[in-house]
Amino acid sequence: MPAGGDPLLRHWYALCRSRDLGRRLPLGVRLFGRRLAVFRGEDGRPAVLEDRCVHRHAPLSAGRVCAARLQCPYHGWEYEGSGRVARVPALGAGVPVPAGLQAAALPCVEQDGLVWTWPGEGVPDGPPRPIATCGEPGWTRFIMKTRFRGSIEACLENFLDCPHATFVHRGWFRSPTGTPVTARVTMLADGAQAEYFGEPRRRSVIWAMFSPPGGTMHHVDRFIAPATSCVDYAFPNGLAYNITSTCSPVEGDAIEVYTVMSFRFRGLGPLVRLFFEPLSRWIIRQDVRMLDRVAGNRADGAAPARSTEADLLGEAIWRWRSALARGEPTPAAGAVRDVRIVL
Ligand code: FES
Ligand SMILES: [Fe+2]
Repeated sequence: MPAGGDPLLRHWYALCRSRDLGRRLPLGVRLFGRRLAVFRGEDGRPAVLEDRCVHRHAPLSAGRVCAARLQCPYHGWEYEGSGRVARVPALGAGVPVPAGLQAAALPCVEQDGLVWTWPGEGVPDGPPRPIATCGEPGWTRFIMKTRFRGSIEACLENFLDCPHATFVHRGWFRSPTGTPVTARVTMLADGAQAEYFGEPRRRSVIWAMFSPPGGTMHHVDRFIAPATSCVDYAFPNGLAYNITSTCSPVEGDAIEVYTVMSFRFRGLGPLVRLFFEPLSRWIIRQDVRMLDRVAGNRADGAAPARSTEADLLGEAIWRWRSALARGEPTPAAGAVRDVRIVL
């Protein structure tokens, strides 16, 4: 492992949705196998502590929040967001808390409807990267939290892979049309993208909703290192949708995926959401089932997975993430190739 610990830890990862973190109870979460407790401290700002009381190691996430401090459920020690123990009830009022009683605290930021933490060593190199469309007016949004089994690479490739949709989401998101499509794959300074030209728009529920015939649709799929995918569709009638998914490794092969679904649908966004949200959950569950089958079918000693030109972004995702994990230079930006695929 490179000096300074696992480089993949030195990034922001989503821990929970803002709306899942109330003011009175903490949440217990796992990230990279580490148990963390998240709670709202001073002014409702979220804080992240190691989920282990420094007294007798009770899980802090089983406690509650008292006056912006996280109280351990066992003997009531109270923790500030910095991790400092500010009160030991059994010592009584007026007796100072011994110096140095401190739980590990991780950097924490609330942004774009998510609570983020930085699990690696060192100081964050800036805030989390903003989610596309957040802060822009005219969009309706909701955030799905979905547990996948597999690897981050497999999840991200799935989210950015058009050919699987004609099988896994047939009729709902995409049905096979046999149409040749040109995809321009470009290596970027922070990942890679595929831009589609001449993409068919017919024979699915989603296309019927968003995409009237005629005009030019703009579709770009993008991998943003280390753990985010961004799918962007814009239609000539001004309708648009964006699906940004960010992956947080839980432990083992469990991945928590936070998907920010944004769409622009004239003034009808809240109404459309009533239908679009359950439909999106249905579609993502199809992916969960397929990746679960893939993970369950892994075998020691099996031949490595094979790819073709039609697997547009998979190789870039694997190359990028393995370079990051090793602390090696990431793939150079600028390479462009046009690929013909049939959808
Ligand atoms: S174990 Fe937490 S206060 Fe005793
Ligand atoms: Fe899918």
